[in-house]
Amino acid sequence: MVSEQTNTHIIILAAGKGSRMKSTIPKVMHKLAGEPLLAHVLRASATIPRAKKTVVIGEGKDLITAFFQKSPLAEDISFVIQAEQLGTAHAVQIATADIDEDSRVLVLYGDVPLIDPITIREMLNVLESCSLGVLTMEVFDPFGYGRILRDQDGNIEGIVEQKDATPDQEKILEVNTGVMAIKGAKLRRWLSKIEKNNVQGEYYLTDLVSLARRDKEEIRSIRPQSVEEIEGVNNRLQLATLERRYQLKLAEKLCLGGTSLADPSRFDQRGELIAGCDTFIDVNCVFEGTVQLGSGVHIGPNCSIKDTTIADQAIVLANSVIEQSSIGSGAVVGPFARLRAGTDLAENSKVGNFVETKKTAVGKSSKINHLSYVGDAHLGDNVNIGAGTITCNYDGDKKHATQVEDNVFIGSNSTLVAPVRLSKGAFIAAGSTITKTVGDHTLGIGRAKQRNISSWTSPAKKAQED
Ligand code: UD1
Ligand code: CA
Repeated sequence: MVSEQTNTHIIILAAGKGSRMKSTIPKVMHKLAGEPLLAHVLRASATIPRAKKTVVIGEGKDLITAFFQKSPLAEDISFVIQAEQLGTAHAVQIATADIDEDSRVLVLYGDVPLIDPITIREMLNVLESCSLGVLTMEVFDPFGYGRILRDQDGNIEGIVEQKDATPDQEKILEVNTGVMAIKGAKLRRWLSKIEKNNVQGEYYLTDLVSLARRDKEEIRSIRPQSVEEIEGVNNRLQLATLERRYQLKLAEKLCLGGTSLADPSRFDQRGELIAGCDTFIDVNCVFEGTVQLGSGVHIGPNCSIKDTTIADQAIVLANSVIEQSSIGSGAVVGPFARLRAGTDLAENSKVGNFVETKKTAVGKSSKINHLSYVGDAHLGDNVNIGAGTITCNYDGDKKHATQVEDNVFIGSNSTLVAPVRLSKGAFIAAGSTITKTVGDHTLGIGRAKQRNISSWTSPAKKAQED
């Protein structure tokens, strides 16, 4: 087996602009499942850990390198620049300037994102028995692809591009996916012989096939595991179609793993999602980053959940937006709740409608049921926060903390001016503005005293008299 060898060189072609995307950003930076197309190819290549990896970039190169500078996916990748896009063979030539003759080279395309690691291994392994392997597939609509030419014995003898094909060749349904594996020494020899005498005036990598044939080398073809693997993205419609197909696969995997989805066609996973059994996800939810759902969790419709852990039996009701938070078992969130980064809800706590939380721990069985903002706060167990309560955590310069100990009751429409502490069992009268510590089991009341004035004339009555 070949795959772990250090003299494997994976080349990813990504220099094209992708004019048909009609975009200001390069095609390979368009996103599939929340990640640039190129990131998907890099992840697949990462399954061959010690291989040398080179990405050929050109159009939008600064944007690409700036993005991947911060990505662990690009740690062992080198980027080379193809200033002018003279064709796929020219791109490979730039990437293999210092090629090791004993190496095995695999060419992947940055705009064909769903290549499977199994296929990558099979392609490399084929070089055990020949010098050139081509990933081909029979499709219903071959338009746009290079066609595979075979002789009477079924041996591959060439590839003809769509634009160069005769009407008879156009009828061929076996197409070139673009993925090729080739021995380093042969690549070096044949690349130097490729010319640009074709309709597009480009150096075609596909010409390697006829050159190999001329040298009487055997050319082997490999089939991909599934058709998605070879789908290239040329325009936004193809991108959206591929996205849906990919999402459907993720949805199927979840369902078969024991999670219920109300509708697999209305589900979006942009990252990693782990879910326990008997968990239910309603329609139109988007999961981003790393999300973990326990068992028996219920997620209502239209929720957006990012980098969050939700424990067993918790319930998230419709239209909630949750980010970098953790939700304890049996807790209830929403509808219309917004949990911002650093929210930590203990078991059986509740955060209800139109409540925003940030950097806040909510203790066991505590409740913030309606219309509140709670930020930079620590709430003990069995705390009850009345509707309209606001933590005034920001003084225009710094953020300050609010401490609310166990069994505190806060009446509606209270403002807690941080830094402030409400000690165990304290009771805050509705409508209070609290600026000072409230002691254990003490009533805190901070509001203007009500006056009732009977000798009062309404402005309307006064106007009549004038
Ligand atoms: C290519 C193949 C075709 C195959 C198809 C599969 C050739 C000549 N043709 O055609 O047989 O069926 O892919 O999708 O190879 N690129 C560069 N530098 C260049 C030119 C291209 O980096 O100078 C990159 C592009 O960014 C893209 C990839 O190579 O990622 C393929 O190039 P593209 O022009 O899209 O080739 P196709 O016409 O699709
Ligand atoms: Ca293409």
